[in-house]
Amino acid sequence: MENKHYFDKLYQESKDLLWKGFIHKKQLKYLLEELKQGKVLDLGAGEGADAIFLAKKGFKVKAADISETAINRIKEIAKKEKVSLEAETADLETYQIKENYDAIISFATIHFLKKEQIDKIIKEIKEHTNKGGINIIMVFREGDETQGDFDMYYFKDGELKQYYTGWEILSYREYEKLDTAHGKPHTHKIATIIAKK
Ligand SMILES: C[S@@+](CC[C@H](N)C(=O)[O-])C[C@H]1O[C@@H](n2cnc3c(N)ncnc32)[C@H](O)[C@@H]1O
Repeated sequence: MENKHYFDKLYQESKDLLWKGFIHKKQLKYLLEELKQGKVLDLGAGEGADAIFLAKKGFKVKAADISETAINRIKEIAKKEKVSLEAETADLETYQIKENYDAIISFATIHFLKKEQIDKIIKEIKEHTNKGGINIIMVFREGDETQGDFDMYYFKDGELKQYYTGWEILSYREYEKLDTAHGKPHTHKIATIIAKK
């Protein structure tokens, strides 16, 4: 099954929130502290926990994801919690960013693209970030326990960081994390970069 349909099916099948409302607070604190306000784009926003968290903090947020089920869920939660944000379906394989943002974030998503598409979307992300703005990108690395199960791109050690030569690196970490949100508990090998233009 293609990754795009895989996720929509997972969202449809999960009665509760698939990612249990998990917010990447440790990483997003950089936006709160360095930017305080501004426009944020969340690519592969899932059910929108990060997007809604940032909107509640006063950021003007747009959330994009390929899954219509996830996007509808974001809209429902935002309405229920009286939060204003934009949410749209988008396929990052062909997505073109239309405006500039103060921050563009993408957690556990762009590794579902092919290497050439990853090069293209990171170029787009960087170009559409305002000067002084921040990018946060989280991807899986080679040796991740899901390697072989999905047709996705696993980053080499240090590879994500290379995209941000010339930017100020606020944080770059390679680490392992247990995922108990779906299927059998499994460990991800992760790289996360937080970079300032
Ligand atoms: C592991 S989830 C991460 C969701 C959220 N960022 C988080 O960290 O909780 C990956 C997300 O990427 C989305 N996705 C996968 N392929 C995509 C594509 N080609 N374009 C846009 N979104 C995609 C899936 O629908 C899913 O919501």
